[in-house]
Amino acid sequence: MLGLPAPLLGALLLLLAPGGPLAFPEVKPLIMSEQLLWIGGSEIGEVDTYRIPLITYTPKGHLLAISEARKFGAYDWGAKFIAIRRSEDKGSTWGPTSLLEDDGSVKDGLNLGAVLVDDEMGYIFIIYTLCGHYIHCNVSSTMIICSKDDGLNWSPPRNLSREVGTKMFAAGPGNGIQKKQDPKKGRLIVCGHGTISGDGIFCLLSDDHGRSWQNGGSLKSIPYNQPKKSRDFNPDECQPYELSDGSVVINARNQNFYHCNCRIVVRSYDACDSLLPEHLTFDETLVDPAVAAGALVKNDVVFFSNPAHQNNRVNLTLRWSYTKGTSWEQETTQIWSYASGYSAITSLNHTVDDEQYIYIIYEKGWRDITESISLVKINIYGHL
Ligand SMILES: *[C@@H]1O[C@H](CO)[C@@H](O)[C@H](O)[C@H]1NC(C)=O
Ligand SMILES: *[C@@H]1O[C@H](CO)[C@@H](O)[C@H](O)[C@H]1NC(C)=O
Ligand SMILES: *[C@@H]1O[C@H](CO)[C@@H](O)[C@H](O)[C@H]1NC(C)=O
Ligand SMILES: *[C@@H]1O[C@H](CO)[C@@H](O)[C@H](O)[C@H]1NC(C)=O
Repeated sequence: MLGLPAPLLGALLLLLAPGGPLAFPEVKPLIMSEQLLWIGGSEIGEVDTYRIPLITYTPKGHLLAISEARKFGAYDWGAKFIAIRRSEDKGSTWGPTSLLEDDGSVKDGLNLGAVLVDDEMGYIFIIYTLCGHYIHCNVSSTMIICSKDDGLNWSPPRNLSREVGTKMFAAGPGNGIQKKQDPKKGRLIVCGHGTISGDGIFCLLSDDHGRSWQNGGSLKSIPYNQPKKSRDFNPDECQPYELSDGSVVINARNQNFYHCNCRIVVRSYDACDSLLPEHLTFDETLVDPAVAAGALVKNDVVFFSNPAHQNNRVNLTLRWSYTKGTSWEQETTQIWSYASGYSAITSLNHTVDDEQYIYIIYEKGWRDITESISLVKINIYGHL
């Protein structure tokens, strides 16, 4: 990885790294560029609203941005297609929107979803849900599509519910992961949540590069399968990431604000075979209005993005942790102060230069989070 010529950055890292050549300097984020990838309101094209942004690196070192194109309204059900744009120059320019899985005019259309890369095989997967709200339909299905050519072409959808059952499973929204360390190195992990009453965090696992999937651990809501009240325990939309010790942390939306208006964090030491209450914490620093947030480990630093506000989806903020997410630096980077919704983070690692950047995609507006989907490229050592 560090064999490629990038003398300036290399020298800088060497110079500033207290722990030796492979350590990295202090994080000082600087927003390098920002652009709107999708704008709603039927102003450009006919799509009413774009929501649920996902972002991933690709096996060839490019970027893939994905969202739900909600054809007729901002609501979560309704007919949609999956919108995809690709960048081959590290986020400077983006290709046109491609349209996947157009579901016509169904009442309870598709919902995203998680994107994940199998680095060992060079595959990209997208997992989404059909009939997530039981509106004019009775069976919910978990669907998967795969690209083996860096996100250009996609397989027909495969119905994972044949293997994992028809319990409503809403993946992510965000990134699935592939385990890089033992236990279960190479395992694909996608976590998500259930219906609002039968809620909780659930993970799907594949140990054969996505050929077959099984149900992994779950952390169920309380009271399970019953209507919830304010302050009930209800872990919901979630983002997993792997730490260097091989454990997996899942950072989750605290739907009914149990204990705090902040994030639920559960750690798994067995590659998400189990999610146990004894490994559950509430991160009071990560103040949150109940939303899907972004999390990524880059150069051993944990990055976290969300609208940092107790009640409202405003103030999209980036935080970072040198202590595996057990504490956060007091300094934060505000990305947008007005309406800010769901977010997701990725980074490239093909060249030495890539070590400096992370990419955050998020729902952005002046008044409403449904106005647009924006991408920021951040140099995490930018203020040197
Ligand atoms: C769903 O089930 C209900 C009763 O269980 C039935 O009345 C309805 O027709 C079903 N809807 C569909 C779309 O199959
Ligand atoms: C997916 O499979 C389940 C279980 O066999 C089935 O009930 C459901 O109708 C299937 N969904 C689709 C969209 O084919
Ligand atoms: C945004 O979040 C940061 C970090 O928590 C906080 O310091 C700041 O006061 C917030 N701003 C607003 C407008 O809520
Ligand atoms: C990039 O990261 C992936 C996932 O951690 C890893 O498999 C791959 O070897 C890395 N590539 C480089 C060039 O570091």
